[in-house]
Amino acid sequence: VWTAVDAYTISNLHPPSRPNSATLIHALKNSRDQGLPDIASYPVIGKFFALQCRALRVKHALELGTLGGYTSIWLASENPGLHVTTIEVNPHHRNVAQQNLEHAGVADRVDSRLGAGLDVLPRLGKEIAAGEKPRLGFAYIDADKNNNWNYLDQLIDMCEPGAVIFVDNIVAGGGLVDEAQLGDVMVSGAREVVEKVGKDGRVEGMVLQTVGEKSYDGILMVVVN
Ligand code: DHB
Ligand code: MG
Repeated sequence: VWTAVDAYTISNLHPPSRPNSATLIHALKNSRDQGLPDIASYPVIGKFFALQCRALRVKHALELGTLGGYTSIWLASENPGLHVTTIEVNPHHRNVAQQNLEHAGVADRVDSRLGAGLDVLPRLGKEIAAGEKPRLGFAYIDADKNNNWNYLDQLIDMCEPGAVIFVDNIVAGGGLVDEAQLGDVMVSGAREVVEKVGKDGRVEGMVLQTVGEKSYDGILMVVVN
């Protein structure tokens, strides 16, 4: 039923006739054909993030974990004035993403950087502090889960007040609250970021549980004070 509801709502609210529908499907197919793991975002979440950027009139968005560029294509193709910086540690993934971004016609507004998040973020932070890039209005953390908190902690100071940051894979099918899964890095990374956000006066946060074509999961939403 979850998948059927996603299919019904998307077919009405983002039908195949939309200008970016074919390129989004192409990005997923090209990523799969070139051996990338099938863990990209999906239409409901991609459009949710794109609409957040639109509602907040975001000028500069950041993504940690480009994979095949699927979410970056959503953000950029739905928001003509938006610039996206996206960071990917795997050179093959980054190459496939670059193909997909070019095919989607958004490569001129998506700055795709190769490297580990903890190496690239401080450089981006210096560019923002120097005024070479606008402060971030939106960020999406979907990379190595053990660094969820480290990424968020660094990002907060690169954001404008009111910026929204999302962290993926927080609920993990209920693993978040399963004692037996505390050793799983997805669960420990999720718990660390939830617990530290709750104690951090720079931000407010909440977790939205999601069901849909990617089964049962959830995203942490953080707003920068
Ligand atoms: C998985 C899903 C994700 O969204 C991700 O970022 C990493 C891994 C998974 O299902 O294994
Ligand atoms: Mg994810």
